[in-house]
Amino acid sequence: MQGISPIGIFDSGYGGLTVFRSIAALLPEYDYIYLGDNARAPYGNRSFETVHQYTLECVKWLFSKGCPLVILACNTASAKALRTIQQKDLPAIAPDNRVLGVIRPTAEKIGNYTRSNSIGVLGTKGTVTSGSYEIEIHHFFPGVQVSQLACPMWVPLIENGEAKSAGADFFVQKNLNELLTSAPDTDTILLACTHYPLLMDSIRKYLPENIQVIPQGPIVADSLKEYLHRHPEMLARITAGGSRHFFTTDDATDFDNHASAFFGAEVRSEQVRL
Ligand code: DGL
Repeated sequence: MQGISPIGIFDSGYGGLTVFRSIAALLPEYDYIYLGDNARAPYGNRSFETVHQYTLECVKWLFSKGCPLVILACNTASAKALRTIQQKDLPAIAPDNRVLGVIRPTAEKIGNYTRSNSIGVLGTKGTVTSGSYEIEIHHFFPGVQVSQLACPMWVPLIENGEAKSAGADFFVQKNLNELLTSAPDTDTILLACTHYPLLMDSIRKYLPENIQVIPQGPIVADSLKEYLHRHPEMLARITAGGSRHFFTTDDATDFDNHASAFFGAEVRSEQVRL
């Protein structure tokens, strides 16, 4: 990978591949490195300190591979680690590099989708209890009601290959009922976890047609495009050779077997030790 200066994309495991898929479709010209911390995933129930420590290690590794810009394509890491990395770590370790998350760009746009002014946000326990979405959405859309719900069974079901099973249907229906009972005016549901698009078929099955379900990938990809347009100094540092390299902290064959369902194309990864 010598001589390239790629955009780094990080997730706790596979979920960030749904975001990377949208980014690669919209901005195919750049070089990219994806790192999934599968050995320590899921992050969803871990403490602020642990998520920060793990995420920072992964960001530093991506910097060491030449990435001037890293996207945390993980809501849990964006909610629990991004601010500290941006405010405390970056000035000390790499002041000219940038780390961006997925929460702010999503919050900036999601309010435009609702007509009833009522949005449901589904995420991991970590993302929901951080309150980040509520705070950020209210920053941009003060009049919108935000109802959050943690769906702790969804990531394990997906990671265990059960996304199309009756078990997944059971938990999807249960959680959607809970959300809509507490917030019956909801007309827009944000999938605030990068894994959840894999449950889209099941989610649609249990929702009336008038409720729209919004995955983050396309929103984050648009926002990255706008960011690069606004920051020519960063754009000038990223190389445009169209390469994609995939790394995982766990077994590479295992990663490759699961990754294509998220990325929508075959993936060949290498294992790294951080
Ligand atoms: N993909 C992560 C997210 O968007 C969830 C997976 C995890 O808990 O590690 O929050």
